[in-house]
Formats: sequence, structure tokens, C-alpha cells
Amino acid sequence: MPRVFIKPFNRVVDIGYGETLLDAIKSVYPEYSSPCGGRGLCGKCIVRVVEGVVSKPTGNEFLHNVLSRGYRLACQTRVYGDTVIELDHVLKGCVECSIETFNQPLAVDNPLPQSILNGLREHMIYYDGECFREFSRSYLSNIASLNKRLYIGVDLGTTKIALYFYDIEERSLVSSDLLLNPQSRYGDDVVSRLTTILYDRSVLERMRILTIEAIEDKVVGIVSGSGYCLDDIAFIGVAGNTAMLSIFLGVDPTPLTRSPYRSPLPSSFIITDARALCFKKLPTRPILVPPVFKSFVGSDALADLVVVSRLGARPPYLLIDIGTNSEIVLVKSSREYYVTSAPAGPAIEGMHLSCGVGYSSQAIRRLWITSNGFKWKPLIDKPVGITGSGYVSAIADFRRHNIVSENGVLLKWDRVVNGSKTIVIQEVDGEPRIYITQSDVREFQKAKAAIASAWRVLLDKAGLGISDLCGVYIAGSFGSSLDPIDLIEIGVIPSIPLDKVFVVGNAVGLGVIQLLLSRSYRLYGYRVVRRAVHIELPLEDKFSRYWIESLKLKRVEG
Ligand code: FES
Repeated sequence: MPRVFIKPFNRVVDIGYGETLLDAIKSVYPEYSSPCGGRGLCGKCIVRVVEGVVSKPTGNEFLHNVLSRGYRLACQTRVYGDTVIELDHVLKGCVECSIETFNQPLAVDNPLPQSILNGLREHMIYYDGECFREFSRSYLSNIASLNKRLYIGVDLGTTKIALYFYDIEERSLVSSDLLLNPQSRYGDDVVSRLTTILYDRSVLERMRILTIEAIEDKVVGIVSGSGYCLDDIAFIGVAGNTAMLSIFLGVDPTPLTRSPYRSPLPSSFIITDARALCFKKLPTRPILVPPVFKSFVGSDALADLVVVSRLGARPPYLLIDIGTNSEIVLVKSSREYYVTSAPAGPAIEGMHLSCGVGYSSQAIRRLWITSNGFKWKPLIDKPVGITGSGYVSAIADFRRHNIVSENGVLLKWDRVVNGSKTIVIQEVDGEPRIYITQSDVREFQKAKAAIASAWRVLLDKAGLGISDLCGVYIAGSFGSSLDPIDLIEIGVIPSIPLDKVFVVGNAVGLGVIQLLLSRSYRLYGYRVVRRAVHIELPLEDKFSRYWIESLKLKRVEG
């Protein structure tokens, strides 16, 4: 068991092989700053490694630029042998560092609505709540909100809706919050919601109103709770996958349910306003929906791309937004883009698995094996279940310990539950309380295969191999809770050096705000969408073969 010696406090901590320096520090200083919860996003958990055996730097440590100053991020640094660290900066006052997209001012050049008159009008289309119309001056009365300070970015996800509030006068993000998408009562994933609409068209309006009310209530609560008033709102941007955006706008999404799976939305910037969409409490304010790519690949992928491009990503790189509907973009060069979507299904986020739960502070988010049995995070006596990230870490560690085979067969198990081999994580009074079954592993394999086969097809289409990639960017709130080491171990993402894997977090909301604030980025977005080659996976010859190969729980090199 490695030991971590913490200077200048002279504390010695024993931790498990492969645990992080943050684990070591938190065990004696629980208040040690880690605002992002150890996901490599905030850049606050810096430490100096004096000597020892630790993991190589990750991509996020490069993004935060801590290495050049002699620091490491504690949450990213794994300990493999006795190690000495220094927390002298804690005494001197913290060294500030952060990923630029999260804390630095966004680029502001011609924020909307000023620039509507003098640029990009030809790339915009007006939506009056019923029809798309050519953008014209006569609609400007509806979107006049000059000299207001709050720009709101909404990431309309299938499972969650995230909202970000940017004050253009302060040049900073002033608030953000998350709510569950209320449409989930009509199904956990896009396909089940679309099927519901297919059988009963009136559900579309009910889903739409539910979404509008949920967003509106949240906006009103946050704006008033942050010392602003509703009149301060300048513009709202909304990005999401094509199905979610169609429902939000009240546009029939069912063309997405049948071949050739066409998007019912135009690939232009859509301008509409709060009143046209039946927001009742918000003042008449303009709403921008950035262009969708094609089929299910929506404007959330574009917003992610905007953020990644601000980070200076060097092509060729992959951008993977992992979730029930995963968007995957391969940027081969500044002019060549390949996009697709992978319907991983709810199992990737832990749903529909024996003990699976969506996000919960009382659920296991990371699970691994030690010489003393299972260990998990967060430290809770009676977890309510296992989240998707918990399953990813558990299955990756099962592979490392040869408890599950490459083919997904459980090689060791504790008992049989409901006819399925079962590994018991926690039992109470002799009964399994938290457990993972053979069927769970099988469901997970299918979800993982959907994502891995998709990026393999994209690489093929672009004529690239894994070794050509300069980076893999993981986006999305779910993706940012996953450990790249685990994702590589079981082949969810390509096996490339960890310093080329970048976890950018929930980038969509910020990407949308960037599109609201900058004409250059709007032009960039418009060009990317026009140039992108959309790959329809089922039509690709190699897709079935890749899907079957990707069921294997192993690294994908090449
Ligand atoms: S805790 Fe946020 S980067 Fe480590």
C-alpha cells in the first residue's frame, strides 16, 4: 500500500494503489478545495510532487497549464508508490488556474442582437411559433433587447437541462444550474419519446409546454436569486439534439423516426422569441437556436465544438459527448468534419440496470476493487444504487482483475440472482443490496459498442487511424464524471496517451453563450455545419462488424 507524505504538515497517509493524491489529501483535510469534485475541470486542487511514483500528466493538467509552474492536479495524479507532496501554496494563498473556457471571459465581438442587422442575416431564419420564415427586418421589433446584460445558455439534454448565465458587463459566468428534463415521464431516451409522439401527436405539445415551464421557472428563480431582474435578460440560446430542439419548438419530430431520418429543423440559426414559444413569465426576449447538423446530430455538438476550438484543439481530433444519445465529431482538419450520433441508450448512464440510478449524491459514482474488498465513492454507508460512471469504473476494474472476460462473461461471481450470475457489492442481513449481474454487463456492452463502433466508422471514413489522433475530447456532464483510464481500459474511447485525452465538462451551455456573443463564432459554426459530412451508421458496410467487435471489453489500439 503506497504512502503519501504531505509537507509542510508532516502528515502520512496510506492509500490504495492507483488512488489519487486528492484521495490522500481529503482523507486528512476534507476541506481541501476541489470545487469540480475531482473531475479535472476547475484546476483548484494543485499540489507539488516532490518525489515519488505517480501517474503521467493527463490532458486536463495541460489545459490548466499547471505543469509548467511545477504543479500537478491532485485529482488527476494517481499514486503507485511512496510519494512526497507539498501543499505550500495552501499556506501562501492558492495559485489561481483554470481551464480558459470555464473562467476566462468569452470572446465578445458583435454580440447578438446588435449584429443581426449587419451580419449573418442570410444564415438566420425566423420561427414565429408555427412556421419558419425568411429572416427580415419586420421581425426586429420582436427581438429588440439592446443594452441588456444577461446572456443565458441552455443545454437541452435528453436527461438533464443545464442553464448558464453570463453577465456581459462583468464578462463572467454568474450562475449555472441543472434540472431533470420533465419529458422523462414519456420515456428515458429519445427513441421512446419519439415513439410516444408517433402514436399520439397531442403529446408533442404537452412535452413542449412541460419543457418551457421547467426552463422558465428555473430562469426566473435563478435571475431573481442572483440579484438581477428579468428585464436584464438580453438573449437566450438553446442547444440540444435535434429531437429535443424539435419538441422545444413544437415542430413535428417524427421524420426522425423513419428512413432517411431527416431533421425537421433547418441547418440555419433559428431566431424566435419567448412569447412565440409560450413562455409566460419571461419578457419578450429573443431566443437563438444554433444550427443542427443532420438527423439526430444537433446543435449541442456544435456548441461543444465551439468550446473545444477555443481550447486550441489541434486536428485531427475526436469529440465525444457521451450520453444516452452520444454525439461524435471527428475533426480531420479545419475544413473537414465528420459527424454522427450513437444511440447508446439509457444503460450507459446506469438506467435500467439492476441497481442502476441516474445521478444521485447518494449513489456510487466510482467503484473499484481493493485487497479488502470493494471500495466506492462517495463514501456512503448505504448507497441507493450505482450511477453510469459507477458501472464504467466497476466493469473496467473487473477486467483488470480478470473477474469479467474480454467477451463480457463473469468469470467469478458470488451467487445467482434471478437466474443471472451476480457479484455482490454490498449485502444486508445476508441479502444482496447492491450488486452487478451478468445481464447488467451485457446491457453495458451494447451501450459501449454503440459509441465505439461509431468513432471507428468515422475514423475509417476520414482515412485515419487511432495513432493519427492529436486528441480525444470528452464532453457532457455525464462524460465528465467518467475516468479516461477506465474508458480506455474497456474501449469506450480509443487507446491513446492520457495526455491527449481532455475532459471538458458540460460545454454546451457555454458554447451557446459564445455563439450569442461572437459573430466570428457564429460564422465558424455556420461553416462547420455546412462542411460537415454526416455519417448514417446503419448504411455503412463496416458498422455491423465494428459493433460486434466493440462488444469486447478491451483496449482499442491502432
Ligand atoms: S478537483 Fe477540480 S481539477 Fe481537481
